[in-house]
Amino acid sequence: MKQIIIEGGHPLHGKIVVSGAKNSAVALLPSAILCDGVVTIDNVPMISDIEAIKEILVYLGAKVECENDKITIDSRTIQNRVIPESLAKKLRASYYFMGALLGKFKKTEMSFPGGCSIGARPIDLHLKGFEDLGAKVSSNENQYLVQATKLIGTDLYVKHSVGATVNLLFSSVLADGITIIHDAAKEPEITNVVELLQNMGANISGKGTDTLVIHGVETLHGASISVIPDRIEAGTYIIAGALCGNQLEITNINPEHLNSLIDILQKMQADITILKDSVIMNHKETLLPVNIKTEVYPGFPTDLQQPMTTLLTTVSGNSTLEETIYENRFKHVSYLNEMGASIKIEDRKLMITAPTKLNGKTVVATDLRAGASLILAGLSALGETTITEVEHILRGYENIIEKLENVGAKIKLEEI
Ligand code: UD1
Repeated sequence: MKQIIIEGGHPLHGKIVVSGAKNSAVALLPSAILCDGVVTIDNVPMISDIEAIKEILVYLGAKVECENDKITIDSRTIQNRVIPESLAKKLRASYYFMGALLGKFKKTEMSFPGGCSIGARPIDLHLKGFEDLGAKVSSNENQYLVQATKLIGTDLYVKHSVGATVNLLFSSVLADGITIIHDAAKEPEITNVVELLQNMGANISGKGTDTLVIHGVETLHGASISVIPDRIEAGTYIIAGALCGNQLEITNINPEHLNSLIDILQKMQADITILKDSVIMNHKETLLPVNIKTEVYPGFPTDLQQPMTTLLTTVSGNSTLEETIYENRFKHVSYLNEMGASIKIEDRKLMITAPTKLNGKTVVATDLRAGASLILAGLSALGETTITEVEHILRGYENIIEKLENVGAKIKLEEI
């Protein structure tokens, strides 16, 4: 067990280099299963979710080599099609192995995936898509067996689900005929995955739109790709800059992927300078309140809802934050309130009375982005904040302690 201790109130100055996107990398690595060759992926964040994906690849029989932020995967030696529950439960993105194994070997067996507890998070759209492609899905308690004699292209509808879009891409690139994924998610991480599949020889059109057309091919070959910058990690540090920045530069980012956050910060009259691949943030005493609703990309990301809550407790007036993607992504609220915030949950909306002053307390990181919101609270609070169960945070933020320490935060990680 680990905990993070933060002494609040220190300005953040200097440069934070953003890592590769977790949500891209966790899909790019399993996609290597689909090809008959070697896949090289660079700018991979070294976080525990990636360790878990590597562990599953090795368990299946793939050869995985790592050198700094570069991972090379040779999946031609894969023997297993079944993923044990202990591995599947380590992370949400283990579900990508279902699509990749089904697409390549027409068979997979896996339990319901793990991941943050932020709502029901069913995988019905993934399973329905597998069935529509011709697979038979059977389940025994929590274990799913998915197999097909043949996968045949068809029309699929995924209601903008990120995971279902990627999984059905995986299961259709080698299928017979044409698959059309309607209402596909358009997140930049999906475009990153489409690009790797195209580099392997997949025939996919409609990249970056909500209609993906896949002409199945016989085989795929080895290829390489760079993981795009993590827009959620970037957004978290940008919000840290609005809270405590003194010329805090957040670099190695694609500002276009952050338009919805930047628009909101500009509405709040935050001190933000946008450069080609970085932004510079300065704290301002008075920021305007704002009403935000989470949406699928390019709308305001649900993954920044919790970090943004912390900033909204400090602005000059009352704000609202409506969560439209998950029904229960509010576990950070009670801890922020214990620290001095005044937030009420009304159905799926946060009513934030502000400004309030945050004070250091002992709080719990119940999930990844709740943990990020508490780190931000700790950085701006008066006194010392202790955050427990920080394994959730370390799953998704590469070197978060070092990155914040390097720009002046008084933060440390302790074993307990
Ligand atoms: C991905 C991201 C996560 C992000 C989310 C929304 C990864 C590994 N995780 O999660 O960080 O918060 O997108 O941007 O990339 N749904 C169903 N049935 C399904 C699938 C989804 O009802 O079969 C619902 C979910 O419960 C949720 C909504 O659709 O309410 C969005 O889920 P989805 O886009 O699939 O999110 P994830 O892929 O789980």
